[in-house]
Amino acid sequence: MAEEIEAATAVYGAILAGGAGTRMGNPDKPKQFLMLGGKPVLVHTVEKFAISGLFDAILVLCPPDWVDQTRDLLRRYCECGSDAIVVPGGAKRNDTIMNAIGYIRDHLPVDEDSILVTHDAVRPFVTHRILQDNLRAARQHGACDTVMPATDTIVESQDGRMVDAIPARSILYQGQTPQTFRVLELGEVLGSLDEGELSSLTDACKAYVLRGRPVALVKGDSANMKITYPEDMRIAASLLGEAHA
Ligand code: CTP
Repeated sequence: MAEEIEAATAVYGAILAGGAGTRMGNPDKPKQFLMLGGKPVLVHTVEKFAISGLFDAILVLCPPDWVDQTRDLLRRYCECGSDAIVVPGGAKRNDTIMNAIGYIRDHLPVDEDSILVTHDAVRPFVTHRILQDNLRAARQHGACDTVMPATDTIVESQDGRMVDAIPARSILYQGQTPQTFRVLELGEVLGSLDEGELSSLTDACKAYVLRGRPVALVKGDSANMKITYPEDMRIAASLLGEAHA
């Protein structure tokens, strides 16, 4: 497959499934492996990428001790006969992204224009429109972030007790994923972070902002929710039911 990919137009997907899902409170099975409508959450996400037809290769980054199981689950449940490449993730989300970049550099054709779409495995309702808009924006601006205009007023407090500021809602957005970049530039930006920055930054777009590089906004979707807490599984199940109704 790698021989057929042209580096200048290559588009790679990295589905980030390397987390422990601590807030879900199910330590034996991270949330991306929980069943949702008959298949694991992460399989729904991989299928969205595969069905889109936009990707030259799809990487699934999982906890290192889940590599074999992840391969099995994709084989067993992926309806699109996924040939996704399973790669061990890292300790922090940005380490997981670095592992994706490392794999691409070592095994796939890549040059300055090759694009990487990074996406949370636990956002299984990403749409074709969002993926397309990410590609368009990343090609034009170099990097983009999927966001929704903030609906609630955001209140800022340093000590968690008293209000310090209430920024104007009209300029605030809530971050979703995908976040999309030029592969090699992303490696350069993340590689330039020192240990402190790397451990405090969970967000690759924030690394771009810190380094003064442009990041365009792409409109997300309220259905593109992130599964974080147990109640989110119930919301996801009901969204899945609506999609199939
Ligand atoms: N992620 C990852 N590698 C990590 C940490 C997170 O690939 N080292 C992924 C998660 O698997 C998830 C996405 O990043 O798909 C968003 O992260 P989050 O919702 O915070 O997931 P967890 O870190 O797993 O959750 P928690 O913070 O509750 O432990």
